[in-house]
Amino acid sequence: MKLVVAVTGASGSIYAQRLLAELAQAKEVEECHVALSAYAKQVAAAELGAKGLTIPKKFKVHGDKTMEVPFVSGSASFQAMVIVPCSMGTLGRIAHGYSDSTITRAADVFLKERRKLILVPRETPWNLLQARNVVTLLEAGATVIPAVPSFYGKPKTVEQVADTVVARILDHLGVRNDLVKRWKTPVVED
Ligand SMILES: Cc1cc2nc3c(=O)[nH]c(=O)nc-3n(C[C@H](O)[C@H](O)[C@H](O)COP(=O)(O)O)c2cc1C
Repeated sequence: MKLVVAVTGASGSIYAQRLLAELAQAKEVEECHVALSAYAKQVAAAELGAKGLTIPKKFKVHGDKTMEVPFVSGSASFQAMVIVPCSMGTLGRIAHGYSDSTITRAADVFLKERRKLILVPRETPWNLLQARNVVTLLEAGATVIPAVPSFYGKPKTVEQVADTVVARILDHLGVRNDLVKRWKTPVVED
C-alpha cells in the first residue's frame, strides 16, 4: 500500500507518533509520505518535547507548502491518506474544497479519486460549523475517526490509551495489528 500521513496542528501528536511507528513495521506498507503543517511542528514540540515527532527514516517527509510531491495529483497511485491529528481548521478547509496547501490539495485529490481519506479530529466540544463540516466530509466519502479513546481494554499507559485510537485507524487502513485487546463478551460469573 502507498499512503500519506498528514499531521496538523491539533493536540494529539502522540497519535501521529504511535501510528507512524506501527506503519514503519507494517508488511502492508510499501511507501509512506509524511506531510507536516507548520502548526503540527509547534504542537508536537509542545507535546512531545523539543525534538518533536520522530519520523521513521524510510518515510519521505514534506512540508505543507509544496506541490512537488506525487500525491497531489490523481495520476499518482496512492491508496490511502490519514490526517492525524486533524485540526478543525484543516477539516473545514477540506470540507469546503480549499486546495491551498499540500495537505488540503492532497485530501481534495483523495476525495475526487474516491480513495480512502481518514480524518482524526481531536476537538471537543464542537460548534455547529464544525459538526456540519464533519457531515459534509462524510457525505463526500471521507472516514472520520474522532480521537476518542476506549477504556474497556484497561490501558495502563498514555501510549496504550492512544493506541486504542491508533488501532482503529490501522483497522480502517487494512493494516493488521495487535495493539489492543479485541472485544469479547465477558463471561458472566454467578
Ligand atoms: C498547543 C496547541 C494545541 C492546539 N490544539 C488544537 C486542537 O486540538 N484542535 C484544533 O482544531 N486546533 C488546535 N490548535 C490550533 C491549530 O493549531 C490552529 O487552528 C492552526 O491554524 C491549525 O493549522 P493547520 O491545520 O494548518 O495545522 C492548537 C494549537 C496549539 C498551539
